Amino acid sequence: MKYVLNFREVTYALSEALDYVGIDDTMHGKRVGYMSAEVAKRLGWSSERIDRILLIGMLHDCGVSSTDVHHHLVSELDWDNSQTHCIRGASLLKKVPFYTDYTDVILYHHTHWDELSSSLPLETKEEANLIYLTDRVDALRVQLGSTTLQEKANVRATIQKYAGEMFAPELVDAFVEVSLADSFWYYLEIESLEGYYDEWINLTEPSDVLFDDLKSVAMMFADVVDAKSPFTSKHTYGVAALARHLSGLYGLSERQQERIELAAFFHDLGKLRVADAILHKAGPLNEEERSQMNRHGFDSNMILRKIKGFHEIAQIASMHHETLDAKGYPYHLHGDQIPTEARILAIADIFQALVQDRPYRMGMSAEAALGVLDSMRDDLKLDGSIVEIVRQNLESCYRWAIVSENV
Ligand SMILES: [Fe+2]
Ligand SMILES: [Fe+2]
Ligand SMILES: [Fe+2]
Repeated sequence: MKYVLNFREVTYALSEALDYVGIDDTMHGKRVGYMSAEVAKRLGWSSERIDRILLIGMLHDCGVSSTDVHHHLVSELDWDNSQTHCIRGASLLKKVPFYTDYTDVILYHHTHWDELSSSLPLETKEEANLIYLTDRVDALRVQLGSTTLQEKANVRATIQKYAGEMFAPELVDAFVEVSLADSFWYYLEIESLEGYYDEWINLTEPSDVLFDDLKSVAMMFADVVDAKSPFTSKHTYGVAALARHLSGLYGLSERQQERIELAAFFHDLGKLRVADAILHKAGPLNEEERSQMNRHGFDSNMILRKIKGFHEIAQIASMHHETLDAKGYPYHLHGDQIPTEARILAIADIFQALVQDRPYRMGMSAEAALGVLDSMRDDLKLDGSIVEIVRQNLESCYRWAIVSENV
């Protein structure tokens, strides 16, 4: 089915999830997109290319899922292993029709200008190098500061030092020119940056987007989430497959089934904000850690609600840890406030987690997992009618829950 969406808005909102990780500061991707677009304007690039570089800027670090990737600097501008996230990011974008054209730019966004292969098209080289340059400007802002005139001059001088080697000389010149304007730096502040993107988003009207295209975007972000925790690889894919299967068996409309599937792909988006130390902890979490972990459904909502047309999807996703006895989180909703879609997603999430193999334990059998659902139903936490559907279709539910493990 079709969805009416502003695709600039979709990318903007989802890139917020990426901004939760990587660099200490939030909105790194948006600053890189903005700075690249301003340099591109100075260079006289076409408006299509300026749009493109804004989108690439927002997505450029999609290959980073762990908060410590950016921490091993080997010089003032380079760090060990920077290629890993470029390769990963490129392979994620390649699978998404909307973003597949950005693959090479992302792949080379940490390659020195004098090392870029001569066989690459000039446009790709320029775009990759522009992202590299503004990405490093953003890192230098943290290292050197960018508040005083002297600090800004230091950032410019460091970039100029590497002209011809790390960065294309024409790009460096254009950056130096645009960054002489005071406003260039003011736009890097959160409120001004949001205003800058708002204007850009509102320049386009919403248009028809096909479910399958939207699903490929959702799958990419699910990959980013699953990569953050080594314990849960492919969890999200299994939850989405099972939730869709259950919603069909429940007799929901196709539109509702699609909504549940999308909500399932997005349900743990907010986990990108949870510190690695908590997500990777082998033992049980203490009370404080648990409360930080438990806010992820809320953060998934905060990201998704920014997309007009995504209201229900945001709600369903954010309620996946609510239980009918009002002891779930983050909202502590009562049963009558939890829609069927969210009840289905909650059961799919629990069942998948139980049957999935984890590095520290084998997955449960389908029967044992059903036993856990039964006891949670007896405690008035889960919807008995959905647990019944799982019982009557146990074999297929199990297959859908683990199907993605082999993908
Ligand atoms: Fe990067
Ligand atoms: Fe970056
Ligand atoms: Fe969750």
